[in-house]
Amino acid sequence: MKKERVAVLLGTSLLVTVMMIGCGSSTSDTKKGQGSTVVQETEGNHDTQSNDGGTDESGSASNIPYLRQNHANYKEHGSNTTPVGVKDASAKSIYWTISANTQEDAIKLQEHLKFMEERLQNNQNPRAWDKLFLMEAYMKYNGYYTTSVERSGTDIVVSKNATTVCAYEIISAHADAVSGDFFARGAIMVDYSAKAENILDSSACSDIRTSALNYIAQRQKHRGK
Ligand code: HEM
Repeated sequence: MKKERVAVLLGTSLLVTVMMIGCGSSTSDTKKGQGSTVVQETEGNHDTQSNDGGTDESGSASNIPYLRQNHANYKEHGSNTTPVGVKDASAKSIYWTISANTQEDAIKLQEHLKFMEERLQNNQNPRAWDKLFLMEAYMKYNGYYTTSVERSGTDIVVSKNATTVCAYEIISAHADAVSGDFFARGAIMVDYSAKAENILDSSACSDIRTSALNYIAQRQKHRGK
């Protein structure tokens, strides 16, 4: 682990965050329920239906049950509040600076991110019943955004950079779900498909709409019980 690099990244991220808030250009939005459907939270069917709860060949894990159970162990760096992805719409980027309670918590989140990114890059679809997750997979697989993750001790910095407004809107909606539902409440059964449909209907997505709709039609799975 390159500690200095993480420290610099963390410092830079925090500086960017402070600057954006200072300039009033942060578009952070933790509202939930917008274009989403809340369904009953049930144990057991949250991470197995789409084959995203296991381990891959390299032995890494999604850690979703752990994250869900320990969601309150993660805070915005330097505060006691729920982590929020800080958005810069003009740069089409989102930064997270998260402090975990323990090193184990931080490693579990780091593993989750590695596992998920590899899945998306390998053309797989975690949570294929949710169009927002399908759309994010589409964007990642087609190179419309990148993710970087750095950890130093209990601190984690995640940086997501999109190349199109459409991709930015999708990763932005995903960030709202992670902050407003996953971290805030450990709620992972909200369906964000309606939100994804609205984004896809917008003019920002006109050039990829047909291709993305085909992608969704080919991959979408019904939600199991
Ligand atoms: C419903 C089960 C879940 C699934 C299918 C899932 C899937 C994903 C995917 C696909 C990504 C994007 C990876 C990338 O862009 O490279 C991601 C990112 C992330 N996940 Fe999860 N996740 C789940 C639950 C959770 C939970 C319970 C937490 C924490 C309590 C969490 C925290 C995060 C964070 C912090 C990120 C990075 C920020 C972001 O992408 O917006 N996830 N997850």
